[in-house]
Amino acid sequence: MTAATTETAAHAPVVGTGHTRIEGRDKVTGAARYAAEVPFAGLAHGWLVLSTVARGRIRALDTDRVLAMPGVLAVLDHRNALRLTTDYTGLLGTRPDPTCAVFQHDRVPHLGWPVALVVAETSEQAREAAEALVVHYEQEPHDIELTAEHPGAYPVDGHMPAVTGKGDLEAGLAASAVVVDAEYTTPEEHHNPMEPHAATARWDGGRLEVIDSNQGVTWVVGELANLFSLDPAAVRVRSEHVGGGFGSKGVRAHQVAAVMAATLLQRPVRVVLTRRQMFSLAGYRSPTTQRVRLGAGPDGRLVALEHRSISLTSTVHEFVEPSAAVARVMYDADAHHTANRVVRLDVPTPTWMRAPGEAPGSFALEAALDELAEKCGIDPVELRLRNEPERGPVSGLPFAGRNLAACFREGARRFGWADRDRRPRQRRDGRWLLGTGTAAASFPSGAAPSTATATAHPDGTFTVRISAADIGTGARTALGLVAADALQVPPDRIRVRIGDSDFGPAMIAGGSMGTRSWSWAVKAAAGELRERLALGADIPPEGVTVRSDTTEAIGSLAPAERHSFGAQFAEVAVDPATGEVRVRRMLGIFAAGRIVNPLTARNQFRGGMIWGISMALHEEAVRDRASGGPVGADLAGYHVATHADVPHIEADWIDDTDPEDPVGIKGIGEIGIVGAAAAVANAVWHATGVRHRSLPIRPDRVLSAPGPAGAPDA
Ligand code: MOS
Repeated sequence: MTAATTETAAHAPVVGTGHTRIEGRDKVTGAARYAAEVPFAGLAHGWLVLSTVARGRIRALDTDRVLAMPGVLAVLDHRNALRLTTDYTGLLGTRPDPTCAVFQHDRVPHLGWPVALVVAETSEQAREAAEALVVHYEQEPHDIELTAEHPGAYPVDGHMPAVTGKGDLEAGLAASAVVVDAEYTTPEEHHNPMEPHAATARWDGGRLEVIDSNQGVTWVVGELANLFSLDPAAVRVRSEHVGGGFGSKGVRAHQVAAVMAATLLQRPVRVVLTRRQMFSLAGYRSPTTQRVRLGAGPDGRLVALEHRSISLTSTVHEFVEPSAAVARVMYDADAHHTANRVVRLDVPTPTWMRAPGEAPGSFALEAALDELAEKCGIDPVELRLRNEPERGPVSGLPFAGRNLAACFREGARRFGWADRDRRPRQRRDGRWLLGTGTAAASFPSGAAPSTATATAHPDGTFTVRISAADIGTGARTALGLVAADALQVPPDRIRVRIGDSDFGPAMIAGGSMGTRSWSWAVKAAAGELRERLALGADIPPEGVTVRSDTTEAIGSLAPAERHSFGAQFAEVAVDPATGEVRVRRMLGIFAAGRIVNPLTARNQFRGGMIWGISMALHEEAVRDRASGGPVGADLAGYHVATHADVPHIEADWIDDTDPEDPVGIKGIGEIGIVGAAAAVANAVWHATGVRHRSLPIRPDRVLSAPGPAGAPDA
């Protein structure tokens, strides 16, 4: 039949209308299988053994006793493991973190370093044996402490220049009517997704197959093929449902260990990280110490701006939390200097964690702006409007859309900002001091080459296939809406298949670029398919399939500053007797491109804002100086905002359709957290009159802070 496209003119666009997740019912009923739940015949289970010292060498492993334990099949360690190739640059332009290249040598660079994998018939037997494995170490002294003046700090910044500068900073500050000079710190933070990292590896007819939970199957195929010196075509990675990623789910020790064991034993092997192991092996956000210096005229216009940040990384891999980079986008000044530096310490390698750089960087910069507003006696919203740059402050490039001012105007209107008394400690509610605060948000907007296929079936339905990852964002559902509009059919006629590297290369769910990149490819394939079907050809039983590739289109975009923007508003109540801070309400207004699915988009923004509350008030990983390991490495010891901490949160957006993107998308993945912690901290100042420059704003910090004490002024 040829009925596939008979539904023509009547199609009402579905992009921009709310839809529940396609797989939502499967998830809540348990029908959706996560990586560690997929059954395999003959499955063996691997359990990682992690180092208990922070620095040194493995002297011996007492494997004989463990090999004799019930069900134990093998113990892999540096003496018998496959040799891996680590001399390559992966899909994201980075070299592999040697932490993933497990068991290649006897050195231990941090506590929680993988030293062995015990494989057994059952998970319980593997765990029992792994816990019984005695490892002897030659221990060396370790250094885990990040200090602003660490002698080992060096400038580095990933892809950008680590240090940018124009104009004479000292002269600019000296000539400024108002100066802010403050140091801000953020702690080590962890992004443990609800679903732990899990992978099953097996060889099947000469192909390596990995069932995984990750943010991009194309990425993981590339890394595994490189590490094991395999033809990428001989590797298939599937990752259908992912219970959260936040930057932590790339290639990690467990997948590599599972592949090693499956190769050795020639049977499927599953390795799952425990919650505790995730605190060492899943990556995290480095603590930062940031210094911001601002100089302005009496009108609040910036004359001088300096933002310097220092973060840490491991001794084995360079990862930088580029917190000072946000100032290169947000504000201009004749004298404008930014610098990111890093120190190598005996700690696990940090990684991308939701809004890497922007999240801690916006805390420091947007808190400093609030301090400047106070000193200038200017409303903090007005101060930001006065400092809107014409072009990229460092790049000099034009902005491809910068609707920050519109976000502030709309946000201020809806939040009731106009009535605000700028002076601190003016409002109370019983024992609570009340305050409001605001901050700006930005996050880069981009797209990366992807391929997709769209297939028309004889029964009038369609299948879209793309190696996308839905890490909880609702990407799968969004892609169905994009395909529906391109094909001009209702979304229920479309099946969306994702998370399989056999669908061809595609961008990862990362950098807030996933849905935009994949939509571009899906729209291209589906649009071309519709054109072909319009010619009236018969649809054979195997269907008609069109494949798209966006490499050329995306490569031809002219250089510009491309970002999403937002304005965050928070109201807090502070109890001066207990030091408790409670967020009462929050509002975020975003200019983040066309919103494909308002239902899941709101969820995505709010999730980021909630994380901002958590960052402002709760999250802090503590590392024990003596052992070098994390204290309380679980979700009881690591405090995150829970339901009772989260008040009424409203996230909304202004029309900001991106003319450069086929669907108008910019990307909304990460911007929700940016500026959120600063808005809360600025509100705490407004409530109490005290600046908190170190996160989280714990009750003890509120109580011990210097400044106005006791009851509110009468
Ligand atoms: Mo995101 S930190 O790019 O997963």
